[in-house]
Amino acid sequence: MFAFVWLLLSAYARLVSSTTQNDGYFSPAPPRQSFNVFLLAGQSNMSGRGGVINATWDGVVPPQSQPRASGILRLSANDVWVNAKEPLHKDIDVNNVCGVGPGMAFANSVMNKDSGIGVVGLVPCAVGGTKISEWGRGTALYGRLVRRAEAAAGSGGVIRALLWYQGEADTVNHEDAKMYKWRLERFFTHLRADLQLPQLPIIQVALASGTGPYVGTVRKAQFKVDLPNVKTVDAAGLRLQPDHLHLSTSSQVQLGEMLADTFLQSIPALPAPIQSKELGIIIPANEETPSIIKRSDADGLRGNNVRHIFILAGQSNMAGRGGVRKGIWDGFIPRECEPNPAIHRLSASLTWEEAREPLHADIDLNKTVGIGPGMVFANTVLQKGDRFKVIGLVPCAVGASSINDWCRGSVLYNNLIARAIVAIKDGGIIEAILWYQGERDTFHTKDVDHYKDKLEHLILDLRNDLRLPNLPVIEVLLSSSNGPLLDALREEQRGVDLPNVIKVDPLGLPLQPDGVHLTTVAQVSLGEMMADAFLKFKPNVQKRL
Ligand SMILES: *[C@@H]1O[C@H](CO)[C@@H](O)[C@H](O)[C@H]1NC(C)=O
Ligand SMILES: *[C@@H]1O[C@H](CO)[C@@H](O)[C@H](O)[C@H]1NC(C)=O
Ligand SMILES: *[C@@H]1O[C@H](CO)[C@@H](O)[C@H](O)[C@H]1NC(C)=O
Repeated sequence: MFAFVWLLLSAYARLVSSTTQNDGYFSPAPPRQSFNVFLLAGQSNMSGRGGVINATWDGVVPPQSQPRASGILRLSANDVWVNAKEPLHKDIDVNNVCGVGPGMAFANSVMNKDSGIGVVGLVPCAVGGTKISEWGRGTALYGRLVRRAEAAAGSGGVIRALLWYQGEADTVNHEDAKMYKWRLERFFTHLRADLQLPQLPIIQVALASGTGPYVGTVRKAQFKVDLPNVKTVDAAGLRLQPDHLHLSTSSQVQLGEMLADTFLQSIPALPAPIQSKELGIIIPANEETPSIIKRSDADGLRGNNVRHIFILAGQSNMAGRGGVRKGIWDGFIPRECEPNPAIHRLSASLTWEEAREPLHADIDLNKTVGIGPGMVFANTVLQKGDRFKVIGLVPCAVGASSINDWCRGSVLYNNLIARAIVAIKDGGIIEAILWYQGERDTFHTKDVDHYKDKLEHLILDLRNDLRLPNLPVIEVLLSSSNGPLLDALREEQRGVDLPNVIKVDPLGLPLQPDGVHLTTVAQVSLGEMMADAFLKFKPNVQKRL
């Protein structure tokens, strides 16, 4: 194990030295990105109405919003980078008269305050009068936003943030205002997932007034958005034009500068490094981590011998309690769970060995472990899936753990990542995470209420830290609980809405006398269900931006 840690660190050092040859010593900072893309979306104030009076733009461009000879680009409606100038949304928000918005002032301010930032590329996507429901996944506006973001990234840009200014259209109708927070969070979450940028910084503008009676509700919703890396800039106090509906040119300049300050202050810190004290492993939070993973793919085991790896996580029914009664395992191993030389498991001491039940014996400590779904799953995949010749199981489940116990930064999370990285060090492909958890969160409403969001965050974090943005997750729904909120929790689990999450429902499979743990027979059925679902599944592979 010691040797391995050395290997990891030396692999890392090699990578670092190859990327920092310029000045001869190691700098932990990631390379500076030189083409910074910002997405602009929302309604008319983002599109820009500054200087538009009686449906005519006065053509006045203040110094702060002037074009630069080089350095500020905009993605035109036909996806070509052109020199940027106001009105930025002219060919995007085509059914309205466009004037000055915050975009140019934002770009100039960012470049003035951070001279090393490089080129700024603006991607205008806002359209006047649009409601949040018109921006949900599946709508034309959403589709265009994602497509243009991909085009911008495809041409070498790095998407640095979404600037979002919308909400006025949702102040008119009570239902819209009531749904606003939910729709907004969903929009942000979907966008991050579809762009494969789970940490994408979002800077939104809070509405100061509106035409409808529900400005207060929408404004409150904007401030309450409960997602990481979302910053809110307040438009209260900015002057409106005589139409009382839109920010004036000078207000747009002010707003652009506020957005720039917020962006520069909140350039997201690198995520904390992942430290698994118990395993003695530190994985630097650095762009280079994925190369460790990729390198491992390429070296080591090849062809028929490549190890197809599955990570097992969750609580007791994943760890396995089949055949355990009153703290004693009956020792019965059904045919479907028998060992096979082609099924390996990563032990607690980080070595591969032939897998056998109970798979979690040295992981879910101080409890009596029995049969879980893992061995059946592996045997079934070997039998039915032609491309699988060698399987590696990485048990990580711990009984009675709550979803909070698994959040990024926790001991369980860090151990999972560390074990996953160890698992691929001599070759192998991480195929999926098998996840069976939730029972611990059925006792209190506060745990149930945010379960879906927490699980979605967890999945995005895992994919991000493993640098496997499309990694399939097999989510087993809860079929039993000691807590009273089983149905509500199942609703949350069913609501998980991310690509490549495969749901399996063991409801109705036999339980042991304790009423919460699956019997051995039930675990065999569950393992087969999971294997079948996995083998049938066609991953939705999105290219990494
Ligand atoms: C805009 O139109 C209104 C009504 O037609 C008129 O009273 C007003 O003077 C116009 N304002 C400007 C700045 O042209
Ligand atoms: C523009 O922004 C101002 C300030 O937040 C707000 O009062 C107004 O309702 C907005 N107008 C539209 C059409 O969004
Ligand atoms: C298991 O029990 C031992 C001895 O009682 C204790 O030191 C250890 O912390 C326990 N481990 C876990 C994971 O609970």
